[in-house]
Amino acid sequence: MSRHRRKLIFLLGFMGSGKSTVGELLSRELQWPFIDLDAVIEAGQGVSIREIFERAGEPFFRQLERAALTEVLRTEPAVIALGGGTFAYEPNVELIREAGGATIWLDCSLETLRQRCAGMQNRPLFRDPESFRGLLDLRLPYYRRAEFRVSTEGRDPGEVAEQILRLRLY
Ligand code: S3P
Repeated sequence: MSRHRRKLIFLLGFMGSGKSTVGELLSRELQWPFIDLDAVIEAGQGVSIREIFERAGEPFFRQLERAALTEVLRTEPAVIALGGGTFAYEPNVELIREAGGATIWLDCSLETLRQRCAGMQNRPLFRDPESFRGLLDLRLPYYRRAEFRVSTEGRDPGEVAEQILRLRLY
């Protein structure tokens, strides 16, 4: 019997931590649907996350993110890859906690995160190395509130998915 009320796995962590790639692999193994929160937002708006930030700004993006989160919580079972900022907003943390699933922080060093995000055009909050570090520092106290921490440092996404399966959450 799982100690989680609902069959939901939330993957959280900074941009570049591997949430989407690991989430897809994990969902395949579990044979559960995979939901990428950023993709839900983009599909709903018909434009990219970058364009949403450019046209309407971050506060509007956060409203869309919260609405998308509320919507995806209706699906069960599901592996849900959150955006890098989703779990850093208290109302979202509460929603996720109340949802009754498992929260897993994909942790990784600043240097590796930087390398993975360098050159990617779809991350409006990846501006320069200094602000990247500042944002990560602000987020870490939130990420640490996840129930589980899994390191993705030096591991390929398949190994990370394996490690999550070994937690025997369900
Ligand atoms: C964000 C991370 C992005 C996306 C948006 C905001 C953040 O998701 O939601 O650009 O605030 O860190 P990824 O972590 O999937 O890149």
